[in-house]
Amino acid sequence: MAKEIIQIKDLKVHYPIRSGFWNRITGYVRAVDGVSLTINEGETYGLIGESGSGKSTTGKAIVGVEKVTSGSIIYKGEDITKASNRRHLNYNKDVQMIFQDSMSSLNPRKRIEDIIAEPIRNFENLTTDQERDRVQELLDIVGMPSDAIYKYPHEFSGGQRQRIGVARAVATNPKLIVADEPTSALDLSVQAQVLNFMKHIQQQYNIAYLFISHDLGVIRHMSENIAIMNRGRLVEVGKKDDIYNHPVHIYTKRLLAAIPKVDVEHREEHKKHRLAVEEEYKNDQSKWYDENGRVFPLQKVSPTHSVALPASEINEMKESD
Ligand SMILES: Nc1ncnc2c1ncn2[C@@H]1O[C@H](COP(=O)(O)OP(=O)(O)O)[C@@H](O)[C@H]1O
Ligand SMILES: [Mg+2]
Repeated sequence: MAKEIIQIKDLKVHYPIRSGFWNRITGYVRAVDGVSLTINEGETYGLIGESGSGKSTTGKAIVGVEKVTSGSIIYKGEDITKASNRRHLNYNKDVQMIFQDSMSSLNPRKRIEDIIAEPIRNFENLTTDQERDRVQELLDIVGMPSDAIYKYPHEFSGGQRQRIGVARAVATNPKLIVADEPTSALDLSVQAQVLNFMKHIQQQYNIAYLFISHDLGVIRHMSENIAIMNRGRLVEVGKKDDIYNHPVHIYTKRLLAAIPKVDVEHREEHKKHRLAVEEEYKNDQSKWYDENGRVFPLQKVSPTHSVALPASEINEMKESD
């Protein structure tokens, strides 16, 4: 059995909407609205969804930089949504984040040496020489030349900056890294390099990733367990095979149908399929979402596969088996 590293239970993050002369709270953006998932040690858990579905907010809540409205995040048996628990567990050492846009997440006024050393300084007392050795070692791990330590972020390409972001994230020897669209801003060829070397580092140090992406191809390459996020909730959760070969929810089918197909032979078929799925998505909203447009609770359709369906739909599926 795989060992669990973190458990997210019914996580909600709601942002108040203020309006009018008194700037009163008139409603809430339900950015994350009841997400539960479990990540195992050393695995890559894929979180997929379109822009605005709540992926980044989920990631930020997990690393502890976003205030949680309700729910719990269990790490080493304790709920780290409480700051005091994060402190005494040294949670900020064990759990790191990599962002999509390394240009804005790496301080442009700091040299690479200081950028990578910063998280180390928070947790270890190293001499200047020891620290420099450690930074050199980290740069070496991510395949960057040693003179990089004297340079600034703008002196590197996008792919190199993502490597620096990874070096910084692994500096504290973390157990879990939340990687939020880490390669989405990169050219395809560079993307593959960074992904492969993230896998390599994972194997070497047994790091778990929560790998966030809107790109189903990237997630398929990286993850075994996958969740599909839509309107702040999970619409479908399963193994790679469940999601890619046996999708049930219309939102998942729609995402899959939108993947560009290279094979020319079946182009017409794919187009027909895509249009049919799009039609179903438009016309059958009331079947897939409740009367308020919200995603239904997840229901198990197999031991590894859950789908957000109304209870009536589940019975129908069981009867037709
Ligand atoms: N600080 C914030 N205040 C208000 N609304 C926010 C804030 N951050 C995100 N949102 C909203 O929450 C929803 C989810 O955003 P986000 O988690 O960034 O989605 P994703 O990463 O999937 O694109 C969006 O509607 C977004 O506009
Ligand atoms: Mg995002």
